[in-house]
Amino acid sequence: MSIVADRLSRIKPSPTIAVTSKAKELKAAGRDVIGLGAGEPDFDTPDFVKEGAYKAIKAGQTKYTAVDGTPELKDAIIAKFKQDNDLDYARDQITVGTGGKQVLYNALMASVNPGDEVIIPAPYWVSYPDMVLLAEGTPVIVECAKENDFKLQPNDLESAISPKTKWVILNSPSNPTGGAYSRDEMKALTDVLVRHPHVYVMSDDMYEHLVYDGFEFCTPAQVEPALFERTLTCNGVSKSYAMTGWRIGYAGGPKELIKAMAKVQSQSTSNPCSISQAAALTALTGDQSFLQERNDAFKERRDFVVEELNAADGISCLKPEGAFYVYPSCAGVIGKNTPDGKCIKTDEDFVTYLLESEGIACVQGAAFGLSPYFRISYATTMEALEEACKRIQRACSALQGEAKAA
Ligand SMILES: Cc1ncc(COP(=O)(O)O)c(C=O)c1O
Repeated sequence: MSIVADRLSRIKPSPTIAVTSKAKELKAAGRDVIGLGAGEPDFDTPDFVKEGAYKAIKAGQTKYTAVDGTPELKDAIIAKFKQDNDLDYARDQITVGTGGKQVLYNALMASVNPGDEVIIPAPYWVSYPDMVLLAEGTPVIVECAKENDFKLQPNDLESAISPKTKWVILNSPSNPTGGAYSRDEMKALTDVLVRHPHVYVMSDDMYEHLVYDGFEFCTPAQVEPALFERTLTCNGVSKSYAMTGWRIGYAGGPKELIKAMAKVQSQSTSNPCSISQAAALTALTGDQSFLQERNDAFKERRDFVVEELNAADGISCLKPEGAFYVYPSCAGVIGKNTPDGKCIKTDEDFVTYLLESEGIACVQGAAFGLSPYFRISYATTMEALEEACKRIQRACSALQGEAKAA
């Protein structure tokens, strides 16, 4: 009898973490590798946030806290939701977990019964389907075409809803595409959801603050107040505040669900790190002006990367509204041969070729549920991006033969 439980056979390890680890390994072995796989800002956590953490340590805030977040942090989150999203939550409608990931995981564990369906638009963040599977639910994947900027269309949402649908997960700005729903686009989706009162909405707003060109972020419960009672609005400090290692995520939602999520957390990890909670409190209540400075840098990098990728043979890339990812199509290289005679049949073959020939580490679209694409994270220096784009262009030019329609 295997030591490993059957439920683990349903899921796979995170492919994005696998790419990052492989790139680190190759680097450690002396290879010249440019990592474009990581889902984290290259910027450091702001100094004022670190100061908040030092103060908390010195003040002895080093013990257990309330299971799902300190009252002070919950109050700061309530103020944030009010100010940024016009959402009114009370303390018992707020939860804090060890990263956005734990919050989403708790929510699914606390709510999904075997056989419940969870609608996930593809391309999706890699963890959604596997978390649903761990919770014994059924992911219902809805492909979102490049022609629609990889965004879920109201008709496709409508067709995917069944009596078994428990949740639809929306993620805007998106990992992996960077695409974000405008208010009109979001309203078209919430109009569908209003007609299906048994469906709950999980809105993953992790990249809320990372939007460019004056784009106005919106979240479902804000756009359609009728959905407030059945929406879990998820967010966190990892990406916007460059705090991926601190592990703080949070959400606002229905009291009954929030209480159930605290139950899951109380029997697994207990409270998120007390020092990290103090740091997150400092981040949310401090001067936010650094966000704009960093966004200016991200925008410049996005514009550069999109232009350079579109100049590569066989690659075509949309310019998305936010996050720090682009999701170029590699349809134009499928069917071509590498200089050593290997045929590129899939996006996975293509990213393997980029890594082996030019030391470029990025992630194949298959990992996000839509091929033939690949994800590039531009959360790295301009110098690294310049060199990376040069190498991608060179790798594409070196391919031989004709592309075959993928
Ligand atoms: C869309 C999305 N949601 C949630 C998370 C989880 O963030 P955290 O690091 O806070 O767990 C990530 C991280 O990559 C993400 O991309």
